[in-house]
Amino acid sequence: MFTVMGVNNQTFLFSSSCRRDGEPPLIKGWIPIIGKALEFGKDAHKFLEKHKEKYGDVFTVQIAGKYMTFIMDPLLYPNIIKHGRQLDFHEFSNRVAPFTFGYPPVTGKYPGLREEIRRSFHLLQGDGLIALTESMMGNLMLVFRQDHLAERPGEEGSWKSGNIYQFCFTVLFEATFLTLYGKPPAARRHSGMGVLREDFIKFDKMFPLLIAQIPIWLLGRTKAIRENLIRCFLPHRMSIWSNKSQFIRRRSEVFDQYDTLRDFDKAAHHFAILWASLGNTVPATFWTMYYLVSHPEALEVVRQEIHDVLRTNGVEFSRDRDVTISRELLDKLLYLESSINESLRLSSASMNIRVAQEDFDLQLDSERSVPVRKGDIIALYPQSMHLDPEIYEEPQTFQFDRYTQDSKKKTDFYKDGEKLKYYLMPFGSGSSKCPGRYFAINEIKQFLCLLLLYFDLQLEEGQTRATVDSSRAGLGILLPTTDIRFRYRLRVNQD
Ligand code: HEM
Repeated sequence: MFTVMGVNNQTFLFSSSCRRDGEPPLIKGWIPIIGKALEFGKDAHKFLEKHKEKYGDVFTVQIAGKYMTFIMDPLLYPNIIKHGRQLDFHEFSNRVAPFTFGYPPVTGKYPGLREEIRRSFHLLQGDGLIALTESMMGNLMLVFRQDHLAERPGEEGSWKSGNIYQFCFTVLFEATFLTLYGKPPAARRHSGMGVLREDFIKFDKMFPLLIAQIPIWLLGRTKAIRENLIRCFLPHRMSIWSNKSQFIRRRSEVFDQYDTLRDFDKAAHHFAILWASLGNTVPATFWTMYYLVSHPEALEVVRQEIHDVLRTNGVEFSRDRDVTISRELLDKLLYLESSINESLRLSSASMNIRVAQEDFDLQLDSERSVPVRKGDIIALYPQSMHLDPEIYEEPQTFQFDRYTQDSKKKTDFYKDGEKLKYYLMPFGSGSSKCPGRYFAINEIKQFLCLLLLYFDLQLEEGQTRATVDSSRAGLGILLPTTDIRFRYRLRVNQD
């Protein structure tokens, strides 16, 4: 039986048998437990837009046995994000992350561990970020120099072909690994990176299923593959690596304080960071590179900006000389940053999840509130905001300078005539916001600086446009459905 109820000028339709007064409309699936999960998983953005049209800005969906209330109006986001105490993110991540990465849940068995882990995140920012950015620059340069800048005799000035995703992944994987975990004794690079990369890709393919808490034994060889990856970080291996980041050094010190953590558990924590540092950064770099290469006018503006910033700050570079671009200079690259933000807007589909810690009335704005039950999930889905034509004109189009205005960063975007506090949210929000966000933006900038400074770039002809694979909706930056081929050659005229 269905009842029609009016809640603050909105008409809601829901089954009266299980909803309390004032609760948002409930959308149930046909299949109990799985609920709307299948439809949601196919194309979350479309699914949510369809329901928003029918039910308004706030509605509850039964997904995989859970009740999730979606708040669709971005003007309401600030009110949700500030409810840190009643709406907790970590209850969710504390359950899902150990299951996915294979370490024991961080419970009372390890007093203080959760807090220490959180404290270590500060080392990804502030002064820690300066050192990380410097180290990343050196490692990116090393990989570029040895793998891509050397030309064999007879090859001078000739085009090479590659796949954009594969190119980004290979370079970033190794440079990030070296930057975070350090290098082996008596060598500048680790051997066996190829095998590790292959295992990482296989694990990453299963990542959405693990996050959905599908038992790992149902996923073929995934358990063995994850174990290989974890074993790489066993303490006796890591102890001989030098130049580790302060972030990873601090985490190792923290883990060593707990006798109850086995070596394998410590290694699994380190592996989780490897995934966190690459899982979204690689696709984000792919999209920025792809959009720039497929918009040559934008690419030229960004390339010119890099040259101008280097020249005015007295940084010289040539093909035979390594270039260093400090964090301070990276901050001046306005068009590059705007291109990255625009690519994140078009490719990010993360879901911000909060779990209600008690029954309470969630104040949506000065007039509206909805009752929330303990254990309910409140979800924000910023992709709907990122693709809202009222906020972003022609939302499906890549406009490299969308986040600039009068040679400054543009930060004013509007909905219903009101300025939005949150208009771009690829990194989550509030207390669960990604601690690696500044590092991520810097490394994407560094990668693209090297690429644009050293190479002419073209898409190979005869390919269809890259499209997003929505099967990771809710989990971060979407991957492309297929890789895209490109051509590159060393630039002769370098300014
Ligand atoms: C473009 C690249 C990146 C994107 C889009 C991204 C996005 C995110 C998001 C959305 C979350 C929050 C999860 C949630 O609220 O559900 C998160 C968490 C996290 N990210 Fe990133 N991330 C990126 C790069 C990085 C990098 C380079 C690191 C470096 C180590 C990193 C480390 C982390 C960690 C440790 C967490 C967990 C924080 C916690 O448990 O509170 N991320 N990331």
